[in-house]
Amino acid sequence: MKLLIATRNDGKAREIRDIFAGLPFQLVFPVDQFLERLPDELDLERGTSFAENAVAKARYFATRSHLPTLGEDSGLEVDALEGAPGVFSARWSLLHGVEGGQREGGIDAANNALLLERLANVPDEARTARYRCVVAYIETATAKPELVEATCEGRILTAPRGNGGFGYDPLFLSTELGVTFAEAALPAKQRVSHRGRAIRALIEVLVRRSQ
Ligand code: IMP
Repeated sequence: MKLLIATRNDGKAREIRDIFAGLPFQLVFPVDQFLERLPDELDLERGTSFAENAVAKARYFATRSHLPTLGEDSGLEVDALEGAPGVFSARWSLLHGVEGGQREGGIDAANNALLLERLANVPDEARTARYRCVVAYIETATAKPELVEATCEGRILTAPRGNGGFGYDPLFLSTELGVTFAEAALPAKQRVSHRGRAIRALIEVLVRRSQ
């Protein structure tokens, strides 16, 4: 089955490819289908929930590709920041006037610097956080979406650790692994991560539906 993955984020794409490895799905990405980035793509992340954004991405790319499509929206929720950056995780520093593109390490480095700054006076025990991921699958642009959600718990460190992963991973100490997602090997991150869990659950739904 050919399945379009509605993301242009390299970190996510790497993980999603790995989760589907060996399964009977032919994954394609917008760039493989010659779907160039259009200005209206910016509107896909303007919803107020992960689910709304995931469905918007799936519908948008299914409309453009005429393929079954999986949309994914995810982010970091920090308890001491009342759930921020949440749905704004990807461009959080930009929304606060920090020019991510100008900084060495780009937007991820700018986001992580802002996170450390916002938590500067927060003690260890109050630095709890979780990643959340919602995946939306639609068979055609007008079909009802299949939605799956998953989370993984952790804590925000006071300094980055590790070189793997992407985004906030160097600051996110996984409760289950005892290391940051940037220190963990990919199979370990996939086993416990919000994205690994959500996508595996979706695959189960798709396999059941096809039987
Ligand atoms: P979006 O779903 O495209 O809005 O982007 C989600 C953003 O949340 C990413 O750009 C990262 O900043 C953050 N994020 C989501 N999942 C992860 C993860 O597994 N590791 C690190 N950061 C993540």
